[in-house]
Amino acid sequence: MQSATRWPDQLPELWSHGAHAYDRTAERLMPQFARDALDIVELRPDDHVLDVATGTGVLALEAAGRGSDVVAIDFAEGMIDQLQRRVRDDGIERVRPVLMDGQNLEFADGTFDLAASQFGVNLFPDRSRGFQEMYRVLRPGGRIVVVTWSAMHRVEPMFAFLEAMQAAETGPPPWDGLPPALSLQDPNDFIAELGDAGFDGATIHRVTHQMTAESADSLWEELKGFIPTITALIDALGAEQAERVGRTFIGILRERYGDGPLAMDCEGLIGVARKPRT
Ligand SMILES: C[S@@+](CC[C@H](N)C(=O)[O-])C[C@H]1O[C@@H](n2cnc3c(N)ncnc32)[C@H](O)[C@@H]1O
Repeated sequence: MQSATRWPDQLPELWSHGAHAYDRTAERLMPQFARDALDIVELRPDDHVLDVATGTGVLALEAAGRGSDVVAIDFAEGMIDQLQRRVRDDGIERVRPVLMDGQNLEFADGTFDLAASQFGVNLFPDRSRGFQEMYRVLRPGGRIVVVTWSAMHRVEPMFAFLEAMQAAETGPPPWDGLPPALSLQDPNDFIAELGDAGFDGATIHRVTHQMTAESADSLWEELKGFIPTITALIDALGAEQAERVGRTFIGILRERYGDGPLAMDCEGLIGVARKPRT
């Protein structure tokens, strides 16, 4: 059963509901991180890859394009349906989408050469379990690559949203702790958590890419359906306050970018490590 204290980003039905909107916005930003992740972990074309919390399959599709066979799992049916359609329509044979919770991987020990998760495992309520499961299904000597967000002030659209919420004095979010999206932003914790799961030689790489948008107004419209936590926070405000937050958000970005287009810096952390050979 889902706990009432779960953040919206931890609920499969909300990701399912927003899958189409997610895909439209994510496609402008996420492939850049996926390319970096696969370069840094040095994907080999014959690697058998698992993509955990694949969403609409950004990293899985990139790996398949480089010649790997990929199993792409996600717990949100809407995401998996969307990826199924894409795979079928484009005749992509190397990606197999499967509905599954990343905290309980239904694969035998040692199945994969590479386990990846881009902006996924950082969301799990039990992240250590997520890392342990990725470790378990890797063969000895297999590699993990995990992409997560850096501190909020280094992810410009999120920071502008926070500034707008604070300016409208909306109060703190009703859920405990840091937003899950930002919960793995400390590189030392990141290395320690990979080590706790059994991985060796973890290194963390900072990379920045730009989120583009036609205008501040169009970004605000997109943002409302993009990420479940943001959608839920806006929905909870009521019409008048939501409009005030929207006006402030648009104002902040107009001050920086005028009428547009926008290109906002978003910093991610990419962690790579290896399962020991013995
Ligand atoms: C921010 S999106 C990232 C999607 C994709 N990896 C990308 O880079 O665009 C987060 C994804 O994590 C999935 N997710 C969250 N918790 C999960 C869990 N416990 N098991 C599997 N998927 C999960 C969500 O359904 C959503 O598709």
